[in-house]
Amino acid sequence: MDANGGIEVTLLQGAPLAAQVDLLAFTTFGDPGKDSIFKSIDSALGGVLSDVAKSESFDGKSGQSLTVHTHGRIPAKRILVVGAGGRSEFTNPHIRDVAATVAQAANKSSSATVGFVLPALGAGREQALVQLLVEGTHLGTYKFGRYFTGEDHKRPMALKTFGVYLDSKGKKPAAAQVKAFSQAVSRGTQIAQAINHARDLVNEPAAAVTPIALAADAQAIAKKHKGSLTVTVLDAKKCQELGMGMFLAVGRGSDQEPRFIHMTYKPSKKPKKRICFIGKGITFDSGGYSLKPSQAMEDMKVDMSGAAAVISAMDAIAALGSEHEVHAVAACCENLVSGRAYKLGDVLVSMDGTTVEINNTDAEGRLTLGDAITYARTKIEPDEMFDFATLTGACMVALGPYTAGVMSDHDSLVRSWLSTAERTGEDMWRLPLTARLREQLKSQVADMRNTGDRFGGAITAGLFLKTFAKDTPWVHVDIAGPASLSTTRPAQPKGGTGFAVATIVEYATHG
Ligand code: BES
Ligand code: MN
Ligand code: ZN
Repeated sequence: MDANGGIEVTLLQGAPLAAQVDLLAFTTFGDPGKDSIFKSIDSALGGVLSDVAKSESFDGKSGQSLTVHTHGRIPAKRILVVGAGGRSEFTNPHIRDVAATVAQAANKSSSATVGFVLPALGAGREQALVQLLVEGTHLGTYKFGRYFTGEDHKRPMALKTFGVYLDSKGKKPAAAQVKAFSQAVSRGTQIAQAINHARDLVNEPAAAVTPIALAADAQAIAKKHKGSLTVTVLDAKKCQELGMGMFLAVGRGSDQEPRFIHMTYKPSKKPKKRICFIGKGITFDSGGYSLKPSQAMEDMKVDMSGAAAVISAMDAIAALGSEHEVHAVAACCENLVSGRAYKLGDVLVSMDGTTVEINNTDAEGRLTLGDAITYARTKIEPDEMFDFATLTGACMVALGPYTAGVMSDHDSLVRSWLSTAERTGEDMWRLPLTARLREQLKSQVADMRNTGDRFGGAITAGLFLKTFAKDTPWVHVDIAGPASLSTTRPAQPKGGTGFAVATIVEYATHG
């Protein structure tokens, strides 16, 4: 897996104008002519900054940026001005993008040291702002480069130290501010590292990230947190004993052995709640005998993004500590075709005894998740459970590629989950679990069939899962769209995004 940079984020004191850094960066909200730092640096540089701003039509809009060389007029070698747009547009994802833009500009200009002037948004937002900034520097410098052989990709990043000025007027920060700063730095670093780790797992080919490899990854994470984090890995035989007929059927067509992963975090004090996060772990989804066309199959190594998210999140949760007992569960296998693969018309017996007729082998995620949900419900008995799954193309049709579909009949739980997502800036939107659509899952030969019609496909998948959640408070998050993207933003390169990690960690540690 890629090392994700050794960028150190530090607190800078004194006046930014006197900063001895390779790159001095700050934001302007709209018109730079109205910005006091812009004006002071501009006059120190003899008006060069405003000249360049004018000639490049820089007016502080989001997405714009400006660099000038200082030619020794001030100690900083270069100036970078990043447009922040209007104050109301300056949402959490934008803040990460600003930091990512600065970090990328630093690497591009071979700058080892950065001084960044934190935009003044009021003392109440300072700590959150620093955390987002730290996240942005790590997320924006993420690269999945391990399969490139050229020298370019082996070069270490130029950026080493990302210094932050909390106050542009050079006032010395108070002791409480310094403490809040270092907390925000460690929190942001842990979260970004977990996100980048999930990205690695998603970006790795299916030949590398097999169910066994995912289990080994979970074990390696548990080893880092001896005393608070443990992991149990069940093989096919153990899953058979537990009666996981749906999970095992999906994995049967592959030569890769399935693995059922269960991680447990226990706080030192008596836990407040027991929470379980469940991730879909299909390491490759060919569709099975309901074979996907080649183009639709091309990116199906991403079908373990839910598992990657819950496993990676446990690393940050254990590092940051939680007052809850937190579990992560992932039923991992490959959905392939072979003489042993499950077939259309098969009737599977799930762990809770429900029988399921298969009318589409490409609706495999709900089968593996159904047994994972039963395992969580009966073996862990959580107060709350959440599942994360690249489950349906229909969810992407409904909400587009950037937004996850959230389904639950538990109003208060889903509200608290969505408000957590709001804080982390991950796009999630509730869809209804329309009970009438359950008609579509009726079977002539078994208790249920595994797929309904085309219309309402995200919801019928949710209804299928609900069968297994029963009365345990449960939220289903369909991440088929945002788990992997073909478009970029500064804090998010193409490919695996690590979606859901931030909200899982936030929910478990602050929720
Ligand atoms: N893994 C896919 C869903 C998916 C599609 C994830 C695109 C990421 C990007 C899932 O297993 C699947 O194949 N779903 C089917 C369900 C259908 C057969 C009811 C789908 O969406 O077509
Ligand atoms: Mn599928
Ligand atoms: Zn799938």
